[in-house]
Amino acid sequence: MSYSLAKVDQIIDGYGADKEALVQILLDIQHEFRWLSREILLHTADRLGLPMNQLYNVTTFYKHFSLVPQGRHAVSVCVGTACHVRGATQLLNRVSQGLKLSPDETSADEKFSLKTVSCLGCCALGPVMVVDGKYMSNPTANEITEIAEECE
Ligand code: FES
Repeated sequence: MSYSLAKVDQIIDGYGADKEALVQILLDIQHEFRWLSREILLHTADRLGLPMNQLYNVTTFYKHFSLVPQGRHAVSVCVGTACHVRGATQLLNRVSQGLKLSPDETSADEKFSLKTVSCLGCCALGPVMVVDGKYMSNPTANEITEIAEECE
């Protein structure tokens, strides 16, 4: 058994393999691996005695779950209205160039994932970029490069 599945078993066992805890189990697995692979979903369905389509329904309903690999560092650029009028498009271009990623992509080395979001609730700072929960107001290309280099 791979390390991944051994860890998945550990999480499932922590909930007594209770199918009622499906969402929490999936959240914990997602937290551990940053995404839910088909192999892991199949194993989890098998362990809980649930049909695979029930896991797909849950994982596609909640936006928190990802069925594709996610980077170690989450980068978001706000493209909400307030940020848009303040230059979100240009910021998104700088971030895409700096990280060599398009929105909704994860780098091949799984270092970064880039997403766009619609409003982060801090419009006065716009345009806003968030890296691992740290908010930045309109970073320059150089600042984006520095951030990319600082991240492991
Ligand atoms: S529109 Fe970007 S933070 Fe509100």
